[in-house]
Amino acid sequence: MDQLTLNNGKQIPQLGLGVFLVQDSADLKQSVDDALKDGYRHFDTATIYHNEAWVGEALAQSDVKREDLFITSKVWNNNTTYDETMAAFKESLKKLQTDYLDLYLIHWPSEGYTEKWRALEDLYNDGQIKSIGVSNFEQPQMDKLLTTAKIKPAVDQIETHPYFQQKVLHEYLTGLNIAHEAWGPLGQGKSGALEDATLKQIADAHQKSIAQVILRWHLQRKIIVIPKSIHAERIAQNIDVFDFTLSDAEMTAIAGIDKNRRGSADPNDEGWLKESLSMN
Ligand SMILES: NC(=O)c1ccc[n+]([C@@H]2O[C@H](COP(=O)([O-])OP(=O)(O)OC[C@H]3O[C@@H](n4cnc5c(N)ncnc54)[C@H](OP(=O)(O)O)[C@@H]3O)[C@@H](O)[C@H]2O)c1
Repeated sequence: MDQLTLNNGKQIPQLGLGVFLVQDSADLKQSVDDALKDGYRHFDTATIYHNEAWVGEALAQSDVKREDLFITSKVWNNNTTYDETMAAFKESLKKLQTDYLDLYLIHWPSEGYTEKWRALEDLYNDGQIKSIGVSNFEQPQMDKLLTTAKIKPAVDQIETHPYFQQKVLHEYLTGLNIAHEAWGPLGQGKSGALEDATLKQIADAHQKSIAQVILRWHLQRKIIVIPKSIHAERIAQNIDVFDFTLSDAEMTAIAGIDKNRRGSADPNDEGWLKESLSMN
């Protein structure tokens, strides 16, 4: 498994398993077990996924040592203050059956994010989180955070896939030495990219699937990926992407299919950010 070094010197496995929308405990346990067997060590959950406790259970029951795992969770938008963030973090630790997280993210740039960041900084300084970061932050929100932050985020986890490549934000994050992590790396299975003709041609040339080509393309852009699947064969397929390389011409061809088409919520949509404060 390739590792990336974050701006605080910590390493992150460049590929992990996402568990968004896995709402069945048996499915979740099975997919974490399958993933561990295939060599995954990095798991991405969030309070709002309502499955941290199942992730914690599956990992606790495995024979992989805690120090060999990389666990990420995220504080949800309904926690808007320093104290609420501290309490949410404690709850996540309990559910995940661990005494530290490898990465903890502010899920969205919603109300109170600079206050929430102060809590993450204190937890980081206290050693309870190894790296801290944000999610769904675009340049204006990141710029604002950086005016008060004492610690620079290590990661920004943002929607990224072949039809929404985030070229401008990618350059901005790279310039700041903040790692770009892709959520929805496969377009959440609904962007159309998994049926794209250019990707199909490249996949055939390498005798790989389109999903594997997409994941390989992210990895070669130095992006961290956390594809989700509850199917054993796809979980195995998604990590089997370290034995081939896309050529410069193939990377350029994929850059050319970008539609700049977001598939999910927009961090600039103030109405949605407000609504999300009452979701839990
Ligand atoms: N920070 C945020 O705001 C945010 C938002 C969304 C997601 N995330 C994180 O990012 C992770 C990944 O994003 P995502 O789950 O939304 O989308 P995704 O990983 O891009 O796509 C998942 C979808 O693709 C299917 N799939 C997986 N592997 C496949 C393959 N090899 N071939 C064909 N289809 C395949 C899955 O179906 P099956 O499961 O049926 O196989 C599922 O429907 C999440 O699980 C979560 O951890 C974060």
